[in-house]
Amino acid sequence: MLRILQLGVGSVGEVTARTVAAEPEVSSVILADIDEQRTKAIAKKLPAGKAEPLTLDVSDRRALLQTLSGVDFVINGLIPDFNMELMHACLETGTHYLDMAAAGPRDVVGSADLDEELALDAEFKNRDLTALICFGVDPGASDVFARTLYDQLDTVERLTVLDGDNATADGYAFAPVFSPTTMIEECLMLPPIALENGQRILRKPLSHSMEFEFPAPIGKLKVWNVDHEESQLMPMYLSGKGLRDADFFIALDDAWVDLLLTWRNLGFDHNDEIEFGDARFRPLDLLVSRLPRSIDLIGKLHGSTCVGTLAEGSLGGKPVRRFMYQITSHDEAFAKYGVQGTGLQTGVPAACAAIMFAKGLIRERGMLAPERIDPQPFLDLMTRHGMPWQVVDLPPAG
Ligand SMILES: NC(=O)c1ccc[n+]([C@@H]2O[C@H](COP(=O)([O-])OP(=O)(O)OC[C@H]3O[C@@H](n4cnc5c(N)ncnc54)[C@H](O)[C@@H]3O)[C@@H](O)[C@H]2O)c1
Repeated sequence: MLRILQLGVGSVGEVTARTVAAEPEVSSVILADIDEQRTKAIAKKLPAGKAEPLTLDVSDRRALLQTLSGVDFVINGLIPDFNMELMHACLETGTHYLDMAAAGPRDVVGSADLDEELALDAEFKNRDLTALICFGVDPGASDVFARTLYDQLDTVERLTVLDGDNATADGYAFAPVFSPTTMIEECLMLPPIALENGQRILRKPLSHSMEFEFPAPIGKLKVWNVDHEESQLMPMYLSGKGLRDADFFIALDDAWVDLLLTWRNLGFDHNDEIEFGDARFRPLDLLVSRLPRSIDLIGKLHGSTCVGTLAEGSLGGKPVRRFMYQITSHDEAFAKYGVQGTGLQTGVPAACAAIMFAKGLIRERGMLAPERIDPQPFLDLMTRHGMPWQVVDLPPAG
């Protein structure tokens, strides 16, 4: 039986906590957040006797270490700037770890990136601990889809993750469907890493776009190349069948792209403080303060979100373009679970990885990316927890 700490019970953390708590292998879940009201509200949604609400500021290291010492496994539902601090705390307390995204690089946003996190592999192994990293929907399920398609095909030359959301939000002109800080950093500040013609390259933010026809009910959307973990992870683990290109594209509406480009033209596409009159502040914080938080959007989003991975290669000597994807309706997510679609779509895969660990289906130690786990039990758990996925062969490109 596993005792779990859910650190951060925001839009995603709520879903992850509720999903893991439904499993018999999980004895209890501590719901820790700086927001006391939220921990108490979410505790009422977990099965009787399994929830323990706790008000905790993760920057209070002593309180964090004390809390980690009392659990077997921590699910990090905070923004990724906290990842490194938390991983080091886990090494100190002997706690297994899971997160949903990486940050960095340090010279752009001031926090550790994927390479810095992966460098902790030996330390986690030496402590007989597992760190499951990047286990949301994208990154996360998208990487498991990539691995599944990689296993199916004879050659895989190109892997592209595509994220398309056609939602509108009641009462908001701009409505990032997940942490606005993470969204702005990804789109505007971080140069997207890509594999292009077999070379790892850095692109200028918001320099590449294209149209992609997502499966019904979403349809054709304009998607933009932005920085994402998959463009690093897929080449690391799935290059053995001729991979030459790996990319991530997300649908962004024109008004949001215009706003970000204006912010860049004003010289605000950085993470440093600026002076204005007597005040010093980060332009990023100013922009975030004008945007809704993901939990503010609960019940206000209408439309659907699709995350999928397109593998282009060959099977039996014939060219193949195979798309594996998951679609979640924001309206259904609210009607069935009282959450928004992106929180559901991200929180369930994170929970599935934690459940695999709890059931003994993941026994490896060290840093584990989604490409490295056995895909089938993970995919079966996604379906069982209300997130079925599909696979379709698309016509040849062009
Ligand atoms: N991989 C994916 O598919 C994917 C998708 C969406 C989000 N994410 C990740 O999940 C993270 C959470 O997303 P979200 O939409 O739930 O964000 P959110 O803002 O709703 O939740 C974050 C929670 O952290 C809490 N928190 C903030 N500072 C804290 C502190 N110092 N101590 C304790 N608690 C604190 C907040 O009160 C909030 O409840 C994102 O930053 C992103 O990294 C991953």
